Amino acid sequence: MNEPLPVVVLISGRGSNLHSILDAIADGELPVEIRAVISNRPDAPGLQRPALLGIRTIVIDHACYASRAAFEAVLRTTIDTFEPELLVLAGFMRILAPEFVTHYRGRILNIHPSLLPEFPGLNTHQRALDAGNRESGATVHFVTPETDGGPAILQARVPVLADDDARSLAQRVLNQEHRILPLAIRWFAEGRLRLDAEGRVILDGAPLETPRMLLPSAREPA
Ligand code: GAR
Repeated sequence: MNEPLPVVVLISGRGSNLHSILDAIADGELPVEIRAVISNRPDAPGLQRPALLGIRTIVIDHACYASRAAFEAVLRTTIDTFEPELLVLAGFMRILAPEFVTHYRGRILNIHPSLLPEFPGLNTHQRALDAGNRESGATVHFVTPETDGGPAILQARVPVLADDDARSLAQRVLNQEHRILPLAIRWFAEGRLRLDAEGRVILDGAPLETPRMLLPSAREPA
């Protein structure tokens, strides 16, 4: 059997996407080893569960550094001590400089709570509501220097309901995030997914013209 893929996960808060990865590993569905979880916020609740599981948890508080470059230098040095083959941004809320992203080219995945290219950046759910959209969703993409602009790999859609507010829509989207992030990591760990030299997503040997769309599961509410 192949060795599990070494992974480092970056978080900033609650950590529910990290939990979905931990759940998939526990269920035997994800051939990865999380070598460390790093938070830029000391109070991130998401650090608790990996710590209980004996996974290394590290805080690198961006507020303690004079510049983004100084913060990212420490972040990068710390990450590299774990020799990850994949870096997962699971609710990591700091923009990363091009030099940082380029260092890990083809080896960083991000989960974003919209159907990219719609609504990069923050407040995606309120913006989807304000735009009168009838559907929203989530995207896993390779990270490139353009914030939330890297090539999309996998998406899932949800309906926007008439009585939604940003909170209810966020929860419906989050349920889908928890499905697509572990799945995209799995594809990467199985050697099925990569970013090629032209910046295209290659899945199972062929370029993805459009992101894969995961259909709603019959077991889960929309
Ligand atoms: C998730 O909805 C994730 O998509 C979003 O933050 C939330 C983190 O939740 N990420 C971004 O907006 C990145 N720009 P979690 O801490 O429970 O995983």
